[in-house]
Amino acid sequence: MTTALPAPTALRERAAQLDADDALAPLRERYLLPPDVVYLDGNSLGPLPAAVPPVLSDVVTRQWGTDLIGSWNVNGWWEAPLRVGDAIGALIGAAPGQTVAGDSTSVQLFTALDAAAALRPDRPLLVTDPGHFPTDRYLADAVARRRGLDVCRVSPADLPRFLETEGARVAVVSYSPVDFRTGELYDVRALTRAAHEAGSLALWDLCHAAGALPLDVDTLGVDLAVGCGYKFLSGGPGAPAFLYVARRHHASLETPLPGWTGHADPFGLRRDYTPAPGIARARIGTPPILPLLALEAALTAFDGVDMTQVRDKSLSLTGFFLRCAEELLTPEGFTPVTPAEPGRRGSQVTLRHPHAHGLTLALAQRAVIADMRAPDLLRFGVNALYTSHQDLLTAALRLRDIAHEAAYDPTPPPPGTVT
Ligand SMILES: Cc1ncc(COP(=O)(O)O)c(C=O)c1O
Repeated sequence: MTTALPAPTALRERAAQLDADDALAPLRERYLLPPDVVYLDGNSLGPLPAAVPPVLSDVVTRQWGTDLIGSWNVNGWWEAPLRVGDAIGALIGAAPGQTVAGDSTSVQLFTALDAAAALRPDRPLLVTDPGHFPTDRYLADAVARRRGLDVCRVSPADLPRFLETEGARVAVVSYSPVDFRTGELYDVRALTRAAHEAGSLALWDLCHAAGALPLDVDTLGVDLAVGCGYKFLSGGPGAPAFLYVARRHHASLETPLPGWTGHADPFGLRRDYTPAPGIARARIGTPPILPLLALEAALTAFDGVDMTQVRDKSLSLTGFFLRCAEELLTPEGFTPVTPAEPGRRGSQVTLRHPHAHGLTLALAQRAVIADMRAPDLLRFGVNALYTSHQDLLTAALRLRDIAHEAAYDPTPPPPGTVT
């Protein structure tokens, strides 16, 4: 039998020092994290913010239960998609009136891709990342089929060169700032500029970036963006997503799903569709009020929080975890795949190991929640609002012990396993 290895003192002292100096540490109180659990999966499902249960209880019992249908007016339900959109806009650098919340990321992506193609009608190419999240790739294919376009799969590193030759034919480039598998951060500013120099539009999927780093979509001239509400924004499982469209495109924005709530006069019950002015035209149907107001409450966890400080702490966390990985985990067969350069990583560290699935399950049994992406990547998401350096040292030590003791099931997950 193998015994647990000792914890290196220098890492313990460093974690304690970094946490003692952490100005954001009190924000952890804004989340209801179970005691004794190290939660490193907020890049998949953010934990429950303390503000959510009382708001949801009020929405259900008083607003729905007592005020009933009058709540569309007296409790601001009708305006909620735009109000919540503006709250998210504040986190991604969008001035009010350009962001709408509702529906899923996939629906918002379809809207954004199709609307972007319509804004550049004479250009036959839609460019996306071959490593993009599956829904982004599938929807790019679907929009291209629908509009008779061709999809070009070009990695972010190759985009500038590709645009030099093909740029004049490209309607839109669709990327994510952060690779969901490796945690690599791409240069949103440079790629957006390259797209614009070619006369194309830039569409960003901010699922792994909104609430994790400063984004400045207005300043960077991003054309369209989408993102989910359930990762770093902690809006709850299946929380509404968001769509940002830069104001300069509003007047000519044609959405593929012209539902009645995006009409200029929704209660006029007109025969034909006339889009509402501004981003309100991107509304589709009746908004999902319970999850929307849960998301609105969740966003108050960011009240008074400076996203630059969030980014600095996130880099400190991921940098510290990479150091833990190098000292404790590489000797046990793990390979870090997230770039070591601070400017090239998002708010996640990914390690490669052939038994990623069994190791993730064994870690969960030792109260450390991370996740894996097939076939061999373990992902550790950090959130500067509640993760501590001590959390990361605990995770690394437990993972090292599990690997050292071979205390995990090496069988690959059966097809269909939710990871
Ligand atoms: C980059 C990215 N886009 C989209 C999604 C999911 O889309 P939806 O919210 O529609 O399930 C994810 C989910 O993890 C994602 O990582």
